[in-house]
Amino acid sequence: MRGLSIGRRLSSAAVALSMVLAAGRPIPARAQTEQAPTFRAATADTATSKGGVAAAVARGDYLARAADCMPCHTGPGQPAFSGGLPIHTGFGVIVSPNITPAARTGIGQWTDEQFYRVVHDGVGPHGKLIYPAMPFTSYTQMTRQDVSDIKAYLFSLKPVTAHRDVNRLAFPFNIRASLIGWRLMFFQPGTYRDDPHRSAVWNRGAYLVLGAGHCGECHTPRNGLGAMLLGRSLSGGVVEGYYAPNISTDPDAGLGARTVDQVKQFLHTGAEPHLGVAFGPMAAVVQYSTRYLTDGDLTAIATYLLNAAKRPDYTVPVPIKPAQSAAGQALFQTNCAGCHQPSGQGVPGAIPNLAGNAAVVATQPDSVIAAMVNGLPGMGTYIAMPSFAATLSDQKIADIANYVRTSWGNRGSANATPELAGRIGAIAKRNATAQGPGAGAPPLN
Ligand code: HEC
Ligand code: HEC
Ligand code: HEC
Repeated sequence: MRGLSIGRRLSSAAVALSMVLAAGRPIPARAQTEQAPTFRAATADTATSKGGVAAAVARGDYLARAADCMPCHTGPGQPAFSGGLPIHTGFGVIVSPNITPAARTGIGQWTDEQFYRVVHDGVGPHGKLIYPAMPFTSYTQMTRQDVSDIKAYLFSLKPVTAHRDVNRLAFPFNIRASLIGWRLMFFQPGTYRDDPHRSAVWNRGAYLVLGAGHCGECHTPRNGLGAMLLGRSLSGGVVEGYYAPNISTDPDAGLGARTVDQVKQFLHTGAEPHLGVAFGPMAAVVQYSTRYLTDGDLTAIATYLLNAAKRPDYTVPVPIKPAQSAAGQALFQTNCAGCHQPSGQGVPGAIPNLAGNAAVVATQPDSVIAAMVNGLPGMGTYIAMPSFAATLSDQKIADIANYVRTSWGNRGSANATPELAGRIGAIAKRNATAQGPGAGAPPLN
């Protein structure tokens, strides 16, 4: 993921109005291994009740991938799970903690109950309130058994001594008590309950999408205080300058016209003709999480997504008259057509099509702009795309975005503006040296 911008989600935002997150600068290496604490066995005891420690560790390994715990808890160049990823929020920087079983600097002394309370309820030992940069707002749907299996897995890892950097949050957000009100208003702890009118496959999918997979942390719009608008679950949200499109069943804006196999292919391989190549924050989701899921779990996720509520996009776009359509076309031919082809068809397996690509015509134009501004690192057989931030003005980027969104039968809105391109450019500058969640972490194969 090197070079792919950024930290992670909007979720993170506890209490501020503008909550775009991003990873910060690489920090100096500071990790070394530490003596394993003696009470690691405590977890093992609990886990033994369900088929032995090894089985719990294996389940926990799988679940930690489904929940994508590693990328956020791994700083640039640091060992996996040792923390140190600075996460920018609208109100300051939160540095993710070390969750290896190191006794002093990690969670080696934590009981099962303490671990469960953090992951499920967002409350740390001694009642410390956890910022929703840690997506407990979704993990609260996970069962106790699953959370405890994840702990068994984490406790099977090598302890890494890595001191947690001090958060740099601005007053009043540096006061954890400010989270009390936020929690009262926006947080309802509670494990997922099966809907008896739905199949087991659908319920498993709901559990993975809404709980462990925390898809809504990016794909659900948020209110001004950074809380997910659950009544509009999965109808699209903005994250790190990208637009995580509507993945509800809405036939126009969402996945309503897709098949189970198409959604599965996208999540498993990161590329599907109608959904394009996963890019921006979604590329990391595929790389570290969904591509490891079993065929059964991918079927469950797709089944849930294609049979949940239809929800139109939250923000109705205000189309801007494409007065500069001709300019956009000329700029596209000069800058983009050499790769994406004049007809927007791309080159199968190497360069994605922009014609008929759901991410390109999504209600909001952010992702098309962000791709141009940041460039993309390439994925699988797909080559890298260069950044145009230095060569194209905000106006030109907006013109190209509007052209791409409305050409070749694409029915997106011409609603990209130079102002939006400028805002996304500013996020990109801040992330210039960031490497993204999991950067430098060992591949999890
Ligand atoms: C989107 C990024 C993100 C993801 C995904 C994430 N975490 Fe966190 N986690 C954080 C941040 C940031 C904090 C610190 C919050 C704070 O200081 O209030 C945190 C805190 C924690 C803590 C408290 C540690 C301490 O010393 O206080 C634990 C335990 C934890 N996470 C475990 C997990 C597990 C297990 C998963 C996967 C199921 C996970 N996290 C996924 C960002 C994330
Ligand atoms: C860290 C934020 C983030 C998380 C978490 C996330 N997504 Fe995404 N997702 C995005 C962004 C941004 C895009 C747009 C870029 C692209 O198409 O790859 C996207 C695109 C998609 C698309 C393609 C939709 C389209 O119209 O192009 C699908 C399908 C999808 N995500 C499903 C999921 C599922 C299922 C999960 C949970 C397992 C999930 N996403 C979790 C950010 C996220
Ligand atoms: C050097 C070849 C190249 C050039 C030039 C190029 N692109 Fe790309 N583009 C790619 C590749 C390859 C990807 C997929 C990379 C990835 O996902 O990591 C991509 C991805 C995209 C995406 C995301 C679509 C998806 O499904 O992944 C958009 C939008 C996009 N390009 C727009 C543009 C625009 C607009 C221009 C001109 C300003 C442009 N590209 C110039 C090669 C290129």
